[in-house]
Amino acid sequence: MAASHLPDSYYASILSESARSRRANPIRKVYHLENEPGVISLLAGKPNTTMFPFTSIKFTVSPTTSPDYPERIRTGQPLKSEGDQRTEIELTGQDLEEALQYGQTEGSARLLDWLHGLQEHLHGRSRGEGWRMSVGVGSQDMLYKAGTALLNPGDYVLIQAPTYAGVIAMFDSLKCNLVDVPNDSSGTRSSDLRNILSSWPADRPKPKIFYNVPFGCNPTGITTTEQRKREIIELSREHDFIIFEDDPYFNLYFGDAPRPPSFFQLEKSMPTKDGSPNVGRVLRFDSFSKLISAGMRMGWVSGPTPILNAIDMHSGISSVHSSSLSQAMLVALFNSWGLDGFDAHVRSVSTFYRAKCEVFAAAMKQHLDGLAEWDVPEAGMFFWFKLLLPPGPDGESDSSDLIQTKAFKNGVLALPGIGFMPDGRKTPYVRAAFSLLDESDVNEALRRLRETLLKDREDHSGETSAIPVAERKIW
Ligand SMILES: Cc1ncc(COP(=O)(O)O)c(C=O)c1O
Repeated sequence: MAASHLPDSYYASILSESARSRRANPIRKVYHLENEPGVISLLAGKPNTTMFPFTSIKFTVSPTTSPDYPERIRTGQPLKSEGDQRTEIELTGQDLEEALQYGQTEGSARLLDWLHGLQEHLHGRSRGEGWRMSVGVGSQDMLYKAGTALLNPGDYVLIQAPTYAGVIAMFDSLKCNLVDVPNDSSGTRSSDLRNILSSWPADRPKPKIFYNVPFGCNPTGITTTEQRKREIIELSREHDFIIFEDDPYFNLYFGDAPRPPSFFQLEKSMPTKDGSPNVGRVLRFDSFSKLISAGMRMGWVSGPTPILNAIDMHSGISSVHSSSLSQAMLVALFNSWGLDGFDAHVRSVSTFYRAKCEVFAAAMKQHLDGLAEWDVPEAGMFFWFKLLLPPGPDGESDSSDLIQTKAFKNGVLALPGIGFMPDGRKTPYVRAAFSLLDESDVNEALRRLRETLLKDREDHSGETSAIPVAERKIW
Protein backbone atom coordinates (compact mmCIF):
# COMPACT_ATOMS: atom_id res chain seq x y z
CA MET A 1 0.00 0.00 0.00
CA ALA A 2 1.16 3.58 -0.66
CA ALA A 3 2.42 5.60 2.27
CA SER A 4 0.91 8.94 3.10
CA HIS A 5 2.93 10.68 5.75
CA LEU A 6 2.10 13.08 8.55
CA PRO A 7 2.89 16.70 7.59
CA ASP A 8 6.05 18.37 8.96
CA SER A 9 3.82 20.74 10.96
CA TYR A 10 2.66 17.77 13.07
CA TYR A 11 6.13 17.45 14.62
CA ALA A 12 6.50 21.13 15.51
CA SER A 13 4.45 20.60 18.66
CA ILE A 14 6.12 17.37 19.78
CA LEU A 15 9.75 18.49 19.57
CA SER A 16 11.30 19.30 22.94
CA GLU A 17 12.06 22.81 24.16
CA SER A 18 15.78 22.16 23.75
CA ALA A 19 15.34 20.92 20.16
CA ARG A 20 13.22 23.93 19.27
CA SER A 21 15.59 26.44 20.82
CA ARG A 22 18.86 24.88 19.61
CA ARG A 23 21.07 27.15 17.54
CA ALA A 24 22.56 25.42 14.53
CA ASN A 25 26.32 25.05 14.20
CA PRO A 26 26.78 27.68 11.47
CA ILE A 27 29.41 25.66 9.59
CA ARG A 28 27.39 22.44 9.62
CA LYS A 29 24.32 24.31 8.37
CA VAL A 30 25.95 25.12 5.04
CA TYR A 31 28.40 22.22 4.86
CA HIS A 32 26.48 20.42 2.11
CA LEU A 33 26.84 23.45 -0.22
CA GLU A 34 30.44 22.40 -0.81
CA ASN A 35 29.03 19.66 -3.03
CA GLU A 36 27.34 22.15 -5.39
CA PRO A 37 28.91 21.73 -8.84
CA GLY A 38 31.37 24.51 -9.74
CA VAL A 39 31.68 25.91 -6.21
CA ILE A 40 35.18 26.66 -4.88
CA SER A 41 34.91 26.26 -1.12
CA LEU A 42 36.82 28.34 1.40
CA LEU A 43 34.37 27.16 4.05
CA ALA A 44 35.27 24.39 6.46
CA GLY A 45 38.45 24.21 8.49
CA LYS A 46 39.36 20.89 6.94
CA PRO A 47 42.86 19.54 7.42
CA ASN A 48 44.88 18.65 4.34
CA THR A 49 44.80 14.84 4.26
CA THR A 50 48.11 14.63 2.37
CA MET A 51 49.71 15.53 5.70
CA PHE A 52 48.17 12.49 7.40
CA PRO A 53 50.48 9.48 7.77
CA PHE A 54 48.11 6.94 6.14
CA THR A 55 48.69 6.19 2.46
CA SER A 56 46.24 3.29 2.23
CA ILE A 57 44.05 1.24 4.53
CA LYS A 58 43.70 -2.46 3.78
CA PHE A 59 41.49 -5.05 5.37
CA THR A 60 40.44 -8.59 4.57
CA VAL A 61 37.01 -10.14 4.95
CA SER A 62 36.05 -13.75 5.42
CA PRO A 63 33.50 -15.45 3.13
CA THR A 64 29.83 -14.78 3.82
CA THR A 65 28.67 -18.30 2.99
CA SER A 66 27.34 -20.05 6.04
CA PRO A 67 29.74 -22.73 7.28
CA ASP A 68 28.34 -25.60 9.26
CA TYR A 69 28.29 -23.67 12.53
CA PRO A 70 26.20 -26.12 14.57
CA GLU A 71 28.61 -28.92 13.71
CA ARG A 72 31.71 -26.77 14.26
CA ILE A 73 30.34 -25.49 17.57
CA ARG A 74 29.49 -29.00 18.76
CA THR A 75 32.88 -30.40 17.83
CA GLY A 76 34.84 -27.37 19.05
CA GLN A 77 36.36 -26.58 15.61
CA PRO A 78 37.36 -23.00 14.85
CA LEU A 79 34.63 -21.11 12.96
CA LYS A 80 37.07 -19.37 10.67
CA SER A 81 40.19 -21.03 9.37
CA GLU A 82 43.37 -19.79 7.71
CA GLY A 83 42.52 -21.69 4.54
CA ASP A 84 39.25 -19.77 3.95
CA GLN A 85 39.14 -17.74 0.74
CA ARG A 86 39.41 -14.11 1.96
CA THR A 87 38.67 -10.92 0.04
CA GLU A 88 41.14 -8.09 0.33
CA ILE A 89 39.71 -4.56 0.31
CA GLU A 90 41.86 -1.45 0.07
CA LEU A 91 40.91 2.18 0.62
CA THR A 92 43.01 4.48 -1.56
CA GLY A 93 42.55 7.74 -3.52
CA GLN A 94 39.12 9.35 -3.11
CA ASP A 95 37.94 6.54 -0.79
CA LEU A 96 40.88 7.12 1.52
CA GLU A 97 40.42 10.89 1.36
CA GLU A 98 36.79 10.45 2.49
CA ALA A 99 37.77 7.99 5.22
CA LEU A 100 40.23 10.45 6.75
CA GLN A 101 38.29 13.69 6.31
CA TYR A 102 35.37 15.40 8.06
CA GLY A 103 32.04 14.41 6.55
CA GLN A 104 28.33 15.24 6.46
CA THR A 105 26.56 15.33 9.83
CA GLU A 106 23.96 12.73 8.82
CA GLY A 107 26.52 10.34 7.32
CA SER A 108 28.28 9.92 4.00
CA ALA A 109 26.07 10.06 0.92
CA ARG A 110 27.47 6.72 -0.24
CA LEU A 111 26.68 4.96 3.03
CA LEU A 112 23.22 6.52 3.16
CA ASP A 113 22.57 5.23 -0.37
CA TRP A 114 23.39 1.76 0.86
CA LEU A 115 21.21 2.13 3.92
CA HIS A 116 18.32 3.32 1.75
CA GLY A 117 18.75 0.14 -0.26
CA LEU A 118 18.68 -1.92 2.95
CA GLN A 119 15.56 -0.24 4.36
CA GLU A 120 13.79 -0.86 1.04
CA HIS A 121 14.99 -4.47 0.93
CA LEU A 122 14.28 -5.34 4.57
CA HIS A 123 11.29 -3.12 5.40
CA GLY A 124 9.78 -2.10 2.06
CA ARG A 125 10.33 1.59 2.83
CA SER A 126 11.22 3.88 -0.07
CA ARG A 127 12.52 7.40 -0.35
CA GLY A 128 9.96 10.17 -0.62
CA GLU A 129 7.71 8.93 2.19
CA GLY A 130 8.53 11.77 4.58
CA TRP A 131 11.41 10.02 6.29
CA ARG A 132 15.19 9.95 6.12
CA MET A 133 18.15 8.54 8.02
CA SER A 134 21.12 9.67 10.11
CA VAL A 135 24.16 7.61 10.99
CA GLY A 136 25.36 7.83 14.59
CA VAL A 137 28.08 6.63 16.93
CA GLY A 138 26.20 3.36 17.42
CA SER A 139 22.43 3.29 17.82
CA GLN A 140 22.83 4.39 21.45
CA ASP A 141 23.98 7.81 20.20
CA MET A 142 20.86 8.09 18.06
CA LEU A 143 18.59 6.90 20.89
CA TYR A 144 19.95 9.60 23.17
CA LYS A 145 19.69 12.34 20.57
CA ALA A 146 16.17 11.24 19.60
CA GLY A 147 15.13 11.25 23.27
CA THR A 148 16.59 14.74 23.62
CA ALA A 149 14.81 15.87 20.47
CA LEU A 150 11.40 14.88 21.84
CA LEU A 151 11.40 14.93 25.62
CA ASN A 152 11.14 17.76 28.10
CA PRO A 153 11.82 17.12 31.80
CA GLY A 154 8.68 15.68 33.35
CA ASP A 155 7.36 14.14 30.09
CA TYR A 156 5.97 10.61 30.22
CA VAL A 157 7.52 7.67 28.37
CA LEU A 158 5.86 4.28 28.00
CA ILE A 159 8.51 1.62 28.32
CA GLN A 160 8.51 -2.11 27.77
CA ALA A 161 9.37 -3.67 31.14
CA PRO A 162 11.80 -5.27 31.71
CA THR A 163 13.95 -3.52 29.15
CA TYR A 164 17.44 -2.56 27.98
CA ALA A 165 19.23 -1.04 30.99
CA GLY A 166 21.08 1.46 28.77
CA VAL A 167 17.88 3.35 27.96
CA ILE A 168 16.53 3.34 31.50
CA ALA A 169 19.60 5.36 32.53
CA MET A 170 19.23 7.51 29.41
CA PHE A 171 15.56 8.38 30.00
CA ASP A 172 16.40 9.05 33.66
CA SER A 173 19.07 11.52 32.60
CA LEU A 174 16.43 13.33 30.53
CA LYS A 175 14.37 13.57 33.72
CA CYS A 176 11.24 12.02 32.28
CA ASN A 177 8.71 9.77 33.99
CA LEU A 178 8.78 6.13 32.96
CA VAL A 179 5.55 4.16 32.78
CA ASP A 180 6.15 0.38 32.73
CA VAL A 181 4.23 -1.73 30.25
CA PRO A 182 4.67 -5.44 31.03
CA ASN A 183 5.77 -8.11 28.54
CA ASP A 184 4.65 -11.64 28.03
CA SER A 185 6.02 -14.23 25.61
CA SER A 186 4.44 -12.40 22.60
CA GLY A 187 6.04 -9.04 23.41
CA THR A 188 4.71 -5.97 25.16
CA ARG A 189 1.17 -6.60 26.40
CA SER A 190 -0.88 -4.35 24.15
CA SER A 191 -3.98 -4.88 26.33
CA ASP A 192 -2.08 -3.37 29.27
CA LEU A 193 -0.88 -0.56 27.05
CA ARG A 194 -4.49 0.11 26.06
CA ASN A 195 -5.61 0.11 29.70
CA ILE A 196 -2.86 2.50 30.71
CA LEU A 197 -3.73 4.90 27.91
CA SER A 198 -7.49 4.74 28.23
CA SER A 199 -7.33 5.48 31.96
CA TRP A 200 -4.67 8.19 31.58
CA PRO A 201 -5.43 11.07 34.01
CA ALA A 202 -6.89 14.05 32.16
CA ASP A 203 -4.61 16.50 33.99
CA ARG A 204 -1.38 14.83 32.81
CA PRO A 205 0.30 15.29 29.44
CA LYS A 206 -0.05 12.06 27.47
CA PRO A 207 3.09 9.98 26.81
CA LYS A 208 5.03 11.01 23.71
CA ILE A 209 7.01 7.81 23.27
CA PHE A 210 6.66 4.07 23.58
CA TYR A 211 10.10 2.41 23.77
CA ASN A 212 10.64 -1.27 22.95
CA VAL A 213 13.15 -3.83 21.62
CA PRO A 214 11.08 -6.01 19.27
CA PHE A 215 13.52 -8.79 18.33
CA GLY A 216 15.39 -10.91 20.89
CA CYS A 217 14.81 -8.21 23.47
CA ASN A 218 17.67 -7.27 25.73
CA PRO A 219 17.26 -8.68 28.41
CA THR A 220 14.24 -10.98 27.95
CA GLY A 221 15.06 -12.56 24.58
CA ILE A 222 11.38 -12.07 23.59
CA THR A 223 10.46 -11.42 19.95
CA THR A 224 7.28 -9.37 19.53
CA THR A 225 4.66 -10.98 17.29
CA GLU A 226 3.18 -9.27 14.23
CA GLN A 227 -0.24 -9.18 15.89
CA ARG A 228 1.12 -7.29 18.91
CA LYS A 229 2.90 -4.84 16.65
CA ARG A 230 -0.31 -4.17 14.73
CA GLU A 231 -2.18 -3.51 17.98
CA ILE A 232 0.56 -1.16 19.19
CA ILE A 233 0.53 0.76 15.89
CA GLU A 234 -3.26 1.17 16.22
CA LEU A 235 -2.73 2.51 19.74
CA SER A 236 -0.02 4.93 18.57
CA ARG A 237 -2.54 6.38 16.11
CA GLU A 238 -5.37 6.53 18.67
CA HIS A 239 -3.25 8.04 21.43
CA ASP A 240 -0.72 9.91 19.34
CA PHE A 241 2.69 8.67 20.41
CA ILE A 242 5.94 7.82 18.62
CA ILE A 243 7.11 4.20 18.66
CA PHE A 244 10.85 3.94 19.40
CA GLU A 245 11.68 0.69 17.60
CA ASP A 246 15.12 -0.12 19.02
CA ASP A 247 16.08 -3.11 16.90
CA PRO A 248 19.76 -4.13 17.11
CA TYR A 249 18.83 -7.85 17.09
CA PHE A 250 16.61 -7.79 13.97
CA ASN A 251 19.25 -9.60 11.92
CA LEU A 252 19.90 -12.09 14.72
CA TYR A 253 16.48 -13.70 14.30
CA PHE A 254 16.73 -17.50 14.14
CA GLY A 255 13.17 -18.69 14.85
CA ASP A 256 11.53 -21.43 12.76
CA ALA A 257 8.67 -19.20 11.57
CA PRO A 258 9.37 -16.44 9.03
CA ARG A 259 10.76 -13.27 10.64
CA PRO A 260 7.86 -10.98 11.64
CA PRO A 261 7.77 -7.58 9.91
CA SER A 262 9.12 -4.51 11.69
CA PHE A 263 6.98 -1.66 13.02
CA PHE A 264 8.62 0.46 10.31
CA GLN A 265 7.33 -1.89 7.62
CA LEU A 266 3.92 -2.47 9.20
CA GLU A 267 2.96 1.18 9.65
CA LYS A 268 3.18 1.58 5.88
CA SER A 269 1.07 -1.50 5.18
CA MET A 270 -1.69 -0.57 7.65
CA PRO A 271 -4.28 1.95 6.45
CA THR A 272 -5.71 4.27 9.11
CA LYS A 273 -9.37 3.90 10.05
CA ASP A 274 -10.23 7.48 9.08
CA GLY A 275 -8.04 7.80 5.98
CA SER A 276 -5.56 10.14 7.73
CA PRO A 277 -1.80 9.71 7.02
CA ASN A 278 -0.56 6.24 7.93
CA VAL A 279 3.19 6.77 8.33
CA GLY A 280 5.28 8.96 10.60
CA ARG A 281 4.87 7.46 14.08
CA VAL A 282 7.82 5.04 14.00
CA LEU A 283 11.39 5.99 14.77
CA ARG A 284 13.52 2.97 13.94
CA PHE A 285 17.00 2.40 15.41
CA ASP A 286 19.35 0.00 13.63
CA SER A 287 22.83 -1.08 14.60
CA PHE A 288 25.74 -2.84 12.95
CA SER A 289 27.19 -3.64 16.38
CA LYS A 290 25.92 -7.21 16.48
CA LEU A 291 26.32 -7.93 12.78
CA ILE A 292 29.53 -6.32 11.53
CA SER A 293 31.49 -4.72 14.35
CA ALA A 294 30.63 -3.23 17.72
CA GLY A 295 33.89 -1.28 17.83
CA MET A 296 33.22 0.60 14.58
CA ARG A 297 30.35 2.28 16.49
CA MET A 298 27.95 2.32 13.56
CA GLY A 299 24.20 2.64 14.08
CA TRP A 300 21.51 4.66 12.40
CA VAL A 301 18.04 6.03 12.88
CA SER A 302 15.26 6.13 10.28
CA GLY A 303 12.18 8.27 10.74
CA PRO A 304 10.24 11.46 10.15
CA THR A 305 12.39 14.21 8.60
CA PRO A 306 11.64 16.92 11.24
CA ILE A 307 12.78 14.62 14.07
CA LEU A 308 15.88 13.66 12.07
CA ASN A 309 16.64 17.35 11.49
CA ALA A 310 16.53 17.93 15.26
CA ILE A 311 18.86 14.94 15.80
CA ASP A 312 21.35 16.34 13.26
CA MET A 313 21.25 19.75 14.94
CA HIS A 314 22.26 17.98 18.16
CA SER A 315 25.09 16.08 16.40
CA GLY A 316 26.22 19.36 14.85
CA ILE A 317 27.16 20.64 18.29
CA SER A 318 28.27 17.34 19.90
CA SER A 319 29.81 14.44 17.94
CA VAL A 320 29.71 16.49 14.65
CA HIS A 321 29.37 13.18 12.79
CA SER A 322 30.22 9.52 13.24
CA SER A 323 33.59 8.09 12.17
CA SER A 324 34.34 8.66 8.47
CA LEU A 325 36.73 5.72 8.57
CA SER A 326 34.07 3.31 9.86
CA GLN A 327 31.63 4.60 7.24
CA ALA A 328 34.16 4.21 4.42
CA MET A 329 34.97 0.66 5.54
CA LEU A 330 31.27 -0.23 5.55
CA VAL A 331 30.74 1.22 2.07
CA ALA A 332 33.71 -0.73 0.71
CA LEU A 333 32.49 -3.91 2.42
CA PHE A 334 28.94 -3.52 1.06
CA ASN A 335 30.20 -2.74 -2.43
CA SER A 336 32.18 -5.96 -2.36
CA TRP A 337 29.24 -7.97 -0.96
CA GLY A 338 26.23 -6.55 -2.77
CA LEU A 339 22.79 -7.18 -1.25
CA ASP A 340 23.16 -10.93 -1.82
CA GLY A 341 26.40 -10.95 0.16
CA PHE A 342 24.72 -8.96 2.93
CA ASP A 343 21.87 -11.49 3.09
CA ALA A 344 24.32 -14.39 3.10
CA HIS A 345 26.19 -12.79 6.02
CA VAL A 346 22.92 -12.30 7.94
CA ARG A 347 22.04 -15.97 7.39
CA SER A 348 25.46 -16.99 8.57
CA VAL A 349 25.29 -14.84 11.72
CA SER A 350 21.78 -15.93 12.65
CA THR A 351 22.70 -19.60 12.10
CA PHE A 352 25.65 -19.09 14.44
CA TYR A 353 23.51 -17.56 17.21
CA ARG A 354 20.89 -20.25 16.81
CA ALA A 355 23.56 -22.88 17.39
CA LYS A 356 24.91 -20.97 20.41
CA CYS A 357 21.38 -20.69 21.80
CA GLU A 358 20.80 -24.43 21.39
CA VAL A 359 23.98 -25.20 23.31
CA PHE A 360 22.90 -22.85 26.11
CA ALA A 361 19.36 -24.25 26.18
CA ALA A 362 20.67 -27.81 26.52
CA ALA A 363 22.98 -26.77 29.37
CA MET A 364 20.13 -24.92 31.12
CA LYS A 365 18.06 -28.08 31.00
CA GLN A 366 20.92 -30.18 32.30
CA HIS A 367 21.89 -27.91 35.20
CA LEU A 368 18.97 -25.68 36.16
CA ASP A 369 15.92 -27.89 35.67
CA GLY A 370 13.78 -27.48 38.81
CA LEU A 371 15.87 -24.51 39.98
CA ALA A 372 14.83 -21.97 37.35
CA GLU A 373 12.21 -21.32 34.64
CA TRP A 374 12.75 -19.90 31.17
CA ASP A 375 11.59 -19.63 27.56
CA VAL A 376 14.07 -20.34 24.79
CA PRO A 377 14.65 -17.16 22.74
CA GLU A 378 14.24 -16.97 18.95
CA ALA A 379 16.56 -14.04 18.37
CA GLY A 380 19.39 -12.09 19.92
CA MET A 381 21.96 -13.28 22.39
CA PHE A 382 20.27 -13.42 25.78
CA PHE A 383 18.67 -16.00 28.03
CA TRP A 384 16.35 -14.55 30.67
CA PHE A 385 15.53 -16.96 33.45
CA LYS A 386 13.63 -16.88 36.70
CA LEU A 387 15.40 -18.33 39.70
CA LEU A 388 13.02 -20.30 41.90
CA LEU A 389 14.14 -18.53 45.06
CA PRO A 390 12.36 -18.32 48.39
CA PRO A 391 10.77 -14.92 49.05
CA GLY A 392 12.77 -12.40 51.10
CA PRO A 393 11.59 -10.84 54.39
CA ASP A 394 9.34 -8.44 52.40
CA GLY A 395 7.66 -11.37 50.66
CA GLU A 396 9.39 -10.71 47.31
CA SER A 397 12.14 -12.78 45.77
CA ASP A 398 15.12 -11.10 44.14
CA SER A 399 18.14 -12.49 42.34
CA SER A 400 20.56 -9.66 43.22
CA ASP A 401 22.22 -11.07 46.31
CA LEU A 402 22.55 -14.57 44.93
CA ILE A 403 23.97 -13.42 41.59
CA GLN A 404 26.10 -10.48 42.72
CA THR A 405 27.54 -12.13 45.77
CA LYS A 406 27.20 -15.87 46.04
CA ALA A 407 27.39 -16.84 42.35
CA PHE A 408 30.22 -14.40 41.72
CA LYS A 409 32.16 -15.83 44.66
CA ASN A 410 31.62 -19.22 43.14
CA GLY A 411 33.17 -18.00 39.86
CA VAL A 412 30.18 -17.19 37.64
CA LEU A 413 29.14 -13.74 36.50
CA ALA A 414 25.67 -12.80 35.18
CA LEU A 415 23.34 -9.81 35.55
CA PRO A 416 20.55 -9.74 38.16
CA GLY A 417 17.25 -8.71 36.58
CA ILE A 418 16.71 -5.67 38.81
CA GLY A 419 18.92 -3.51 36.54
CA PHE A 420 16.43 -4.00 33.70
CA MET A 421 13.35 -2.97 35.67
CA PRO A 422 12.51 0.66 34.85
CA ASP A 423 10.95 1.14 38.31
CA GLY A 424 13.83 -0.69 40.06
CA ARG A 425 11.42 -3.34 41.31
CA LYS A 426 12.87 -6.57 42.77
CA THR A 427 12.86 -9.56 40.46
CA PRO A 428 14.03 -13.17 40.64
CA TYR A 429 15.11 -13.01 36.96
CA VAL A 430 18.68 -13.13 35.65
CA ARG A 431 20.15 -12.25 32.25
CA ALA A 432 22.83 -14.46 30.73
CA ALA A 433 24.54 -13.81 27.39
CA PHE A 434 25.14 -16.88 25.22
CA SER A 435 27.09 -15.13 22.46
CA LEU A 436 30.67 -15.85 23.48
CA LEU A 437 31.21 -18.99 25.53
CA ASP A 438 31.97 -22.39 24.12
CA GLU A 439 30.05 -25.45 25.24
CA SER A 440 32.42 -26.47 28.03
CA ASP A 441 32.44 -22.95 29.55
CA VAL A 442 28.63 -22.75 29.30
CA ASN A 443 28.36 -26.07 31.13
CA GLU A 444 30.87 -25.08 33.78
CA ALA A 445 29.17 -21.68 34.33
CA LEU A 446 25.74 -23.26 34.73
CA ARG A 447 27.13 -26.07 36.89
CA ARG A 448 28.55 -23.41 39.23
CA LEU A 449 25.24 -21.59 39.25
CA ARG A 450 23.45 -24.83 40.11
CA GLU A 451 25.92 -25.45 42.93
CA THR A 452 25.34 -21.92 44.24
CA LEU A 453 21.55 -22.33 44.09
CA LEU A 454 21.64 -25.67 45.88
CA LYS A 455 23.93 -24.29 48.57
CA ASP A 456 21.59 -21.32 48.96
CA ARG A 457 18.62 -23.64 49.41
CA GLU A 458 20.54 -25.58 52.01
CA ASP A 459 21.45 -22.37 53.86
CA HIS A 460 17.86 -21.18 53.78
CA SER A 461 16.58 -24.46 55.11
CA GLY A 462 18.90 -23.97 58.13
CA GLU A 463 17.95 -20.28 58.37
CA THR A 464 21.60 -19.22 58.04
CA SER A 465 23.29 -17.05 55.50
CA ALA A 466 26.37 -18.57 53.86
CA ILE A 467 28.06 -15.21 53.43
CA PRO A 468 28.32 -12.63 56.22
CA VAL A 469 26.34 -9.48 55.46
CA ALA A 470 29.50 -7.33 55.54
CA GLU A 471 30.89 -9.24 52.56
CA ARG A 472 27.82 -8.82 50.33
CA LYS A 473 27.54 -6.72 47.16
CA ILE A 474 30.98 -7.33 45.76
CA TRP A 475 30.20 -5.35 42.55
C1 LIG B 1 18.55 -2.98 22.97
C2 LIG B 1 19.80 -2.26 22.67
N1 LIG B 1 19.73 -1.04 22.14
C3 LIG B 1 20.83 -0.34 21.83
C4 LIG B 1 22.08 -0.85 22.06
C5 LIG B 1 23.27 -0.03 21.70
O1 LIG B 1 23.87 -0.52 20.53
P1 LIG B 1 25.01 0.24 19.75
O2 LIG B 1 26.25 -0.57 19.92
O3 LIG B 1 24.54 0.29 18.31
O4 LIG B 1 25.15 1.62 20.32
C6 LIG B 1 22.21 -2.12 22.63
C7 LIG B 1 23.53 -2.68 22.93
O5 LIG B 1 23.72 -3.70 23.52
C8 LIG B 1 21.04 -2.84 22.93
O6 LIG B 1 21.07 -4.08 23.45
